[in-house]
Amino acid sequence: MAQDTKRRLTEPSKRLEAVPAYMFAEIERRVAEKRKAGIDVISLGIGDPDRQTYPHIIDAMQAAVAEPANHRYPTNRGRQEFREAFAGFYDSRFGVAIDPETEVLPAIGAKECIYNLCFAFMDPGDAALAADPGYPVYTGGPALAGAEAVLMPLRRELGFAPDLDAISQEDLERARLMFLNYPNNPTGAVVPDGLFERAVELAREHEFLVVHDNAYSETTYDGYVAPSFLATPGAREVGVEVFSLSKGFNMTGWRCAAILGNPDAIATYWRLKTNVDSGLFEAVQLAGAAALTGPREPLEEMNAIYARRRDLVVGALREIGVDVEPPKGTIYVWAPVPEGHTSISFAELVLDEASVVVSPGSMYGPSGEGFFRISLTTPDDRIAEAVARLREHLAPGT
Ligand SMILES: Cc1ncc(COP(=O)(O)O)c(C=O)c1O
Repeated sequence: MAQDTKRRLTEPSKRLEAVPAYMFAEIERRVAEKRKAGIDVISLGIGDPDRQTYPHIIDAMQAAVAEPANHRYPTNRGRQEFREAFAGFYDSRFGVAIDPETEVLPAIGAKECIYNLCFAFMDPGDAALAADPGYPVYTGGPALAGAEAVLMPLRRELGFAPDLDAISQEDLERARLMFLNYPNNPTGAVVPDGLFERAVELAREHEFLVVHDNAYSETTYDGYVAPSFLATPGAREVGVEVFSLSKGFNMTGWRCAAILGNPDAIATYWRLKTNVDSGLFEAVQLAGAAALTGPREPLEEMNAIYARRRDLVVGALREIGVDVEPPKGTIYVWAPVPEGHTSISFAELVLDEASVVVSPGSMYGPSGEGFFRISLTTPDDRIAEAVARLREHLAPGT
């Protein structure tokens, strides 16, 4: 017979229990209820591009899928074409020289890569320095690896940069990883001058790996060109960059990304991955190579669409009294909630009154409290309709 101390058969592990709770559950419940009642709910919650993957990428995929040699197990080292396409892209786009033999590997999306980096580098007692608010895997990954995330608050007064000099000596000593992400989800901020340089100095001094999550460098506006972290002097000695094709190339479903930079760190990631998965489908690697070596025009057209939607959203929010800046990058508008509201209560109000879903800032960490996020990845007519509803239902004095 099972002893009293034995856990129930369906009980999750302590590591899984340690992952921060999902804050969106109540809002999801209300959305489902409304939809069931026939109400038209517009979601501005998720950052998943609404337009299709660019045609030259689809063409490359179709050709690659038709080739039987691409149907077999890939290797975690990746196809030569994929690694060389990344090296060429990093050279022409960022002015960064990458050795395709040792300094780039495919990843099955940035999410997988960040999660597995936690397992490759962290043990219980170790810490990851994680941007707060931030992409949830920066805290969930360390928790699942049995380690701990130490939050670095991103403050509006500092341009949504962490104050790296405010991190305690003890946390710097425990740190194995530091997660940074610019252009930034959820704040839309671009990297402030000197931040990457200071991160490199601290990483050298305290022996931790900087992981720059570059999910949005190709999605920028108003002439802003986002740099690679690896262009920072010394970055390659202490860091890696995770580059995702999901957002810039409308490829969220394809699961196509790469890790680039420090060759020893990349070898450690490879060692972990050989125990966990069997690599990225080779047809997807070839399609990814086509994306990186293909024309820039589709990206520019996409950015013009997002910029137009951004201006529509920012204009409407300002009209209803929200103090918001138009972001120079990402697919998000990050704005403070009106006085008297929490992130959750405001998101619930917007849903109840206007049947529009916005993400409560607290979903991205405690420093996200007091903000909400709107994603620009909804078709133009639906964004226009959502904005009209916000004006109608949330205008001052109504
Ligand atoms: C900052 C950031 N990193 C990574 C991802 C996920 O990228 P991928 O689709 O390559 O897993 C997202 C998606 O929202 C993100 O916002």
